[in-house]
Amino acid sequence: MIEVRCATETDTRRVAGRLSATLQPGDVVVLAGPLGSGKTLFTQGLAAGLGVEERVVSPSFVLVRQYRSGFLPIVHADVYRLGSLHEFADLDVFELASDGVLVIEWGHAVDPALPPDHLRIDFEVEDEGARVLRLTPGGAWRTRNLDALV
Ligand SMILES: Nc1ncnc2c1ncn2[C@@H]1O[C@H](COP(=O)(O)OP(=O)(O)O)[C@@H](O)[C@H]1O
Ligand SMILES: [Mg+2]
Repeated sequence: MIEVRCATETDTRRVAGRLSATLQPGDVVVLAGPLGSGKTLFTQGLAAGLGVEERVVSPSFVLVRQYRSGFLPIVHADVYRLGSLHEFADLDVFELASDGVLVIEWGHAVDPALPPDHLRIDFEVEDEGARVLRLTPGGAWRTRNLDALV
């Protein structure tokens, strides 16, 4: 587990940007943490790092958004509102994101449906402006060097 404190929004975007530089097609990143903790903001930083030109907005109502203007396609899902693993399966996000990066907000709620190879990031609100991010690499992610993110 790697812990990084992001004192400002800019720090959070920066950590996401550094992570984006390490991403490969097929990667799955799960963002966990309460509403307003920075999961969507982190995804914006990730997308910016991948050169996405469109504005990245929360997928909490539409559940899934796709961005294809970057170096890698991004599929951005938010499963907070989903009632079941069946509904998650119906979204078909792994197929949608097979040639790119999949980011799932609240993804820990569908953990049984996730591939073991994923990076989980837990967001904790420390105070109004600061967040603590805890990165837990699963499966093959354990062999990756994430030191540069801190
Ligand atoms: N250090 C920080 N990192 C990320 N977001 C921050 C930070 N400090 C304040 N914020 C604010 O917290 C909010 C996070 O919102 P959002 O990313 O939509 O959260 P979530 O997707 O987890 O519900 C934004 O309004 C952002 O400006
Ligand atoms: Mg969000």
